[in-house]
Amino acid sequence: METGLLHLHTILRWIILLLLLVTLYQAFSKKEGIRKTSLWLMISSHIMLVIGLYQVIAGRYGIIKGLPEGISLMKDTFYRFYWIEHPLAMIVAIVLITLARGKAKTLNYKTAGWQLLVALILILASIPWPFRQLVGRHLFPGS
Ligand code: HEM
Repeated sequence: METGLLHLHTILRWIILLLLLVTLYQAFSKKEGIRKTSLWLMISSHIMLVIGLYQVIAGRYGIIKGLPEGISLMKDTFYRFYWIEHPLAMIVAIVLITLARGKAKTLNYKTAGWQLLVALILILASIPWPFRQLVGRHLFPGS
């Protein structure tokens, strides 16, 4: 089950990024379709939140497994990233996506657009891209 959830977490990243770009375009070009896409974006990011929370609590590097002997959380790049930096930044981004959905519903394009833009920057900055040292992961499951 753990591998399946990790794969889902990896794939959902692409769906969220795609939906985020489309919703952002709709916000800045004032397209009414934003009502639907912002809903799908919110749903997929909330699924991501649930999977992420499971992983950070009970996953293979989860908090309940504890830190390996001799590791100090704030001094260890890997655990600091996966226990603190990544979850925190992504939760803020998901909150912004949720707020933007509220704005999109009432067609407040401008506010929704800015909230989505900040969410996109946070997500891009916090994904463990393959080029990131020590925390980097593959772009697709099994690649
Ligand atoms: C839009 C939101 C998010 C995106 C785009 C995202 C993206 C990713 C990606 C690409 C990976 C690497 C997966 C792999 O190794 O194949 C990952 C791993 C991970 N993410 Fe997220 N994530 C998001 C939200 C969250 C949240 C909200 C949490 C926790 C509350 C979280 C916790 C984790 C953990 C713990 C791992 C490492 C899992 C492991 O290696 O066992 N993520 N994330």
